[in-house]
Amino acid sequence: MHEREPADAQAADMTGVLVRVLVRHDGWDVAEAALVELVAQTLPAPADHVRLGRRCPRCGATDHGRPVVVAPLDGRRLHVSLGRTLGRVAVAVGSAGPVGVDIERVDPERFAGVATVAQHDDEPDADSLDLLAARWVQKEAILKATGWGLTEDPAGLDLTPRRPSPFAVTATRNGLVVRVWVSELGVGTRYAAAVAVVGETPPRVTLVS
Ligand SMILES: CC(C)(COP(=O)(O)OP(=O)(O)OC[C@H]1O[C@@H](n2cnc3c(N)ncnc32)[C@H](O)[C@@H]1OP(=O)(O)O)[C@@H](O)C(=O)NCCC(=O)NCCS
Repeated sequence: MHEREPADAQAADMTGVLVRVLVRHDGWDVAEAALVELVAQTLPAPADHVRLGRRCPRCGATDHGRPVVVAPLDGRRLHVSLGRTLGRVAVAVGSAGPVGVDIERVDPERFAGVATVAQHDDEPDADSLDLLAARWVQKEAILKATGWGLTEDPAGLDLTPRRPSPFAVTATRNGLVVRVWVSELGVGTRYAAAVAVVGETPPRVTLVS
């Protein structure tokens, strides 16, 4: 599925994607600091040299939208993403292509109604909450990687048949065809997470501790 390495053993693999999942206590948002740290580790550069910004792929604004590396200059070739859910944060950094990461707590209340709004016509009904959650995080990861977010209907993405990670999905919008590689991330039984990378070749995904 993907590799898991301790932080001190990981190489700054500029062709792959590093993903880190952290515990998030209520009211304590570690996402931005965690992303700064992972960028610093990947470059490598001192963490206090790293500045993140945002850029909305839809309207170009810099006060919302996908996260971007603003400094240092050579960090701009890195693609970054983050996702939050109750109790966890996931951050991803890579240079293989635009990246999207998503994590969700596998909770029946959170997923009530998701099947009906997010299911592609060709997808069989999810026979478990785990499959429903897995499909949802994969779709959100794809929509973050493309930058479209939920302005694009997740039901337009067909994730069948289930394949080993990473697997390629073709996402289309207004005639634009984008190839995205999706990897499931093993983050324990109470959470579902996935990372997606735009590109022609499958990326090497490493879940770091
Ligand atoms: C991206 C999105 C699917 C994430 O939703 P979510 O499940 O509520 O939140 P998550 O915790 O998983 O992810 C949030 C992060 O996604 C990232 N993000 C936001 N918009 C993004 C986009 N278009 N592409 C990629 N990543 C995006 C940001 O890093 C955001 O963190 P922030 O809140 O600190 O800015 C949703 O916020 C969305 O669709 N946003 C775009 C809407 C849009 O484009 N509106 C038009 C504005 S002009």
